[in-house]
Amino acid sequence: MPRLLPELLAEAGQPEVLRFWEQLSAEERRLLAAELERLEPGELRAHCEEAARARQRHTEPRDRLMEPLPGEATGSSIRTDTESLRSWRERGFHEISENHVAVLLLAGGQGTRLGVQYPKGMYDVGLPSGKTLYQIQAERIRKVQQLAEEKLSKKCTVPWYIMTSEFTLEPTQKFFTLHNYFGLVKSNVVMFEQQMLPAVDFNGKIILEQKGKIAMAPDGNGGLYRALTNNKILEDMDRRGIRFVHVYCVDNILVKMADPAFIGFCVEKGADCGAKVVEKAYPTEPVGVVCCVDGINQVVEYSEVSQATVERRNADGRLTFNAGNICNHFFTVDFLKSVTEEFEPQLKRHVAVKKIPHVDEKGNPVKPETPNGIKMEKFVFDVFQFSKKFVVFEVLREEEFSPLKNAENAGNKDTPSSARRALLWQHYRWAVQAGAHFLDQKDNRISPLKQFPDTEEPPAVCEISPLVSSEGEGLEKYLKDREFRSPLLLTEQAVAALAQGQ
Ligand code: UTP
Repeated sequence: MPRLLPELLAEAGQPEVLRFWEQLSAEERRLLAAELERLEPGELRAHCEEAARARQRHTEPRDRLMEPLPGEATGSSIRTDTESLRSWRERGFHEISENHVAVLLLAGGQGTRLGVQYPKGMYDVGLPSGKTLYQIQAERIRKVQQLAEEKLSKKCTVPWYIMTSEFTLEPTQKFFTLHNYFGLVKSNVVMFEQQMLPAVDFNGKIILEQKGKIAMAPDGNGGLYRALTNNKILEDMDRRGIRFVHVYCVDNILVKMADPAFIGFCVEKGADCGAKVVEKAYPTEPVGVVCCVDGINQVVEYSEVSQATVERRNADGRLTFNAGNICNHFFTVDFLKSVTEEFEPQLKRHVAVKKIPHVDEKGNPVKPETPNGIKMEKFVFDVFQFSKKFVVFEVLREEEFSPLKNAENAGNKDTPSSARRALLWQHYRWAVQAGAHFLDQKDNRISPLKQFPDTEEPPAVCEISPLVSSEGEGLEKYLKDREFRSPLLLTEQAVAALAQGQ
């Protein structure tokens, strides 16, 4: 046994981790030692003790001091005059064309609810094109670069930073290599890894997943801030001249990459930190609400407030606390520096009580039926409180938010089917708005529906490549007054053929 391991674990209060050491093979010992040596004993002790304590923590209801954000801090892509919207978009495109904007993907999660053994970004929700989430996102970056170049006659790059974890880094790297970075320049795609922390039982003892393997979990999407420091990502951004970063989650199939309107709005407002939100679908929808509690901007979960507060409405009938957080954020690089240099240690650690596979005292594997352990996570949005100028930007859910969280059998919500439908409905709407007519099996025109029920399949299948249109723009010249049979797959080649009148 490496001489330091027992000392390290004694100092951390976790000597039991080595209880099966004598039974391990040389390779298992090497791997366990390598995992343990990465952990600092003082921090490990604090982490385990805090996890056990935190489970008992009682959160006070936060209603009393809760207020919606003031009007001047909010913008909307829905309730704004076209002139303001146009000027925000222009500002956004300007910043993109100046190479000031990067996108940052949070892709370190384990995707346990979806239940696949590979990173969520590699998931194919069953679109006609067979594209994965990673491919869709890569193509959206290419398109926004292209639009900025066309508008401002300047070549530009939107670098893509991808935060992965021990689970997702290697397969993501391999996947991108296999697909030639989906047409992006490899040096502009920067992958880095977030930290992993041990899961502990309710007594604060590290859980062994196997005799020689600790149950490790990534430290939440708020692990971003530590990972930025550990991997010198802000230095990389400085070298490239990046000033604004658009951060988003891997699982939202409708995400707009480096959204010019959102970026332009935040920049014009002089914000250092911003959040995109959608109106809550119903009062008890389990999404966090962006609001202000006792003067501090934050996200409050619906479970943290009373039913009366959740259901409170304004005179116009809209929910008072309706700004649903969709994990889509704007940060200036300067703000990220202040967080990483000063505030990161103050970030709250949230407790997630989970069923964690482990070994029993004899070393036999156990799959628990009830929660048996604690994972501690930081959340990316917990930095709002440190912002000097915080804004929110409201967008339309059906245009911008449909997350892939659950496996198909978990009902209708946030599943592969609901994500696929959300995207196909959106493209169907764009096509119809651009003047396309779809034909049924008997070659009769399908009348475009006025209502768009997202629980049903659209009346015709239409998928538009992000390389053809990013927000439904520019489609009339290919689609207006033309008839199409379902499925219509609008690729770059297909529109080139349509342009030639074929
Ligand atoms: P979720 O909270 O939905 O978690 O992550 P998840 O890991 O994807 O799925 P479950 O809960 O295990 O089923 C929201 C976003 O935050 C990222 C995820 O990759 C996703 O983009 N994330 C989550 C991280 O980057 N790191 C983490 O430690 C956790």
